[in-house]
Amino acid sequence: MNDNYIEIVNHLREQIDIVQVISNYVHLEHKGNNFVGLCPFHQDKNPSMYVSPTKKIYKCFSCGNSGDVFTFIKKIENISYSEAVKKACELSHIDPPTFFSKPKKINPNQNLYDAINKLSEFYSYMLKTKLGLEAKNYLNERGLDDKIIEYFKIGYAPKDQTLSIKYLRQNEKIDVNILDKIGVTSYSSGDILDRYYNRIVFPISDINSNLVGFSARRFLPNQENEAKYINTSETDIFKKGNLLYNLNNSLPEIKKSKVVYVLEGFMDVIALYRAGIYNAVAIMGTNISENHLNLFKKLGCEVRLLLDSDEPGQIGIEKSIFSLANYNIPTSVVRPFSLAKDSDELLNKYGSKVLIDALNDLISPINFLLERNGKLNLLVSSKQKEDFLNLIKPIYKCSDSLTKANDLSLISTNLHIEKDAISDILTSSNSGFNSVTNIKATNLNNKKSELIPNEYFSLNGEVCINLASYLEKKYVKQYPSKIKFKFLKALIFNEAQLIARIFKIRECYDYFISSKNSYSYFYISELSTLMLYIGEIYQQDSNLKNIDDSSFANLQTRLNLSMEEAINLNDSQQIGEYTNLINILNCLYYSKSNFDRCDFDNFARLIKNHIVNLNKFDIVNKRQ
Ligand code: UTP
Ligand code: MN
Repeated sequence: MNDNYIEIVNHLREQIDIVQVISNYVHLEHKGNNFVGLCPFHQDKNPSMYVSPTKKIYKCFSCGNSGDVFTFIKKIENISYSEAVKKACELSHIDPPTFFSKPKKINPNQNLYDAINKLSEFYSYMLKTKLGLEAKNYLNERGLDDKIIEYFKIGYAPKDQTLSIKYLRQNEKIDVNILDKIGVTSYSSGDILDRYYNRIVFPISDINSNLVGFSARRFLPNQENEAKYINTSETDIFKKGNLLYNLNNSLPEIKKSKVVYVLEGFMDVIALYRAGIYNAVAIMGTNISENHLNLFKKLGCEVRLLLDSDEPGQIGIEKSIFSLANYNIPTSVVRPFSLAKDSDELLNKYGSKVLIDALNDLISPINFLLERNGKLNLLVSSKQKEDFLNLIKPIYKCSDSLTKANDLSLISTNLHIEKDAISDILTSSNSGFNSVTNIKATNLNNKKSELIPNEYFSLNGEVCINLASYLEKKYVKQYPSKIKFKFLKALIFNEAQLIARIFKIRECYDYFISSKNSYSYFYISELSTLMLYIGEIYQQDSNLKNIDDSSFANLQTRLNLSMEEAINLNDSQQIGEYTNLINILNCLYYSKSNFDRCDFDNFARLIKNHIVNLNKFDIVNKRQ
């Protein structure tokens, strides 16, 4: 960096109106000589970030973050200092000095993007050939015409698993090593094969419109036993938790409308597009990841949640509402459809007017929870009502005042409690979010903080939601004590996470077995039995990287045999246990979640915490 550079940056800093630039990210209000706003670098509840137009700096008096206009942009946009200088100039309508407009560096993953592009072109071409006729008909029958197919670059991976690989290697001269890196290959007795074969492929792009992977949908009647979608497994460029389907295409409309519809699947995003709604993305499942949350935060738009009207979708909305509130992201919920499972079905059955009307039927997150808990009969006793109010506190706190007023009336009517009393509880200082460790340390005896641990909402992997809600039903009967149940709920959830990783990643199994820690067992009996079965499979084959098709079949057979035995013995308890095991196994196997090995330690630690809590509570209980 030379003197010239420093001089120019200093000069720019003087020229640029820091208040105007920061206002692009944070709502600022005048206060004396300064401006104040909610600090975007921590979860700020009261405005604690000061911006001084004369000193040209900002400072948060709560988290301590401070700097000048360039460091602000560098941090909030997560870009380099020079990029931040450039961006600040753009926002201030000043021409950036020439040395900031250097040509872009070539992306080190460019060869991977290029390969995926070629592959995608191949699939698109195949869809137009005779080989792709059935796939094409399927798409047409679902209402996708040529224009839509073209726009979303939908293709067909032919039944012959060697075609695409041959094409890429011979015609496009792409190295096998690159094919491995983009996740298209699978190997069978020395042959290199296409793992998406005989499926309709949806290419997936990152935010910069680089194609990074595929999701391949079955479409033939004889594929019904296979997974519905086969996704690219995690690669250097395909990280499901970082991606939102269609984000690249929808960015302009999202920025314009300041709204993003968040849906479950590809077909739903396409349905909205067909109906003329262009600001929709799919999370490709029911889980909003932390990366997604950061992205929404950065986009500064309102999130409109629209997940499927089935149970996993509704649980997904419930979880997302809390995560979004935790990030202070304005959120509303599209009232769950009663006429169809998802947008695609609604459009095809009733047409675009009905779909668009349904999209405009927005309710507040609290209203959603009221309706859902009402339906589930969870708002009957006064204890349940109090719990509910405590639970929704963080959501209430980050709502705008109009929504607050509306919600107050709704809650009052639904719970038959005076508005003032509700408002007292909702605005009391006790923050609604509480971490397990806080509860553990201070509040075991304190009724007020009987909150569901945060972790319960923030974990990923739909398998674990299904599994946990499924196991809870059984265990809740066993454990009437409420506090204990809440720790148990979190425990089940974390154990589900753990077993899912062990199931999907051999490394996790090895780690689990080698660790001598006291948490090296499962508290939930089903999971500990399943662990034995899984362990056997891994031990038989030291090269097995994860539970593949044949080991899954093997596990299934073993469980079915044991089940038959239990049936012969007429042992209802055992039959129940085996039914559970088989369900859990299916749940794990058919789950779409990709897990990160490095989360493993974390879950193991959480489990240990939960068990400590459960035990502690036992003692507390006994003493009383
Ligand atoms: P859905 O099962 O709701 O599928 O899964 P869908 O989007 O309605 O698709 P259609 O209408 O049946 O064709 C929602 C999303 O979850 C992911 C996909 O991204 C899908 O769009 N998913 C689902 C998978 O990744 N793998 C699966 O096996 C199933
Ligand atoms: Mn669907």
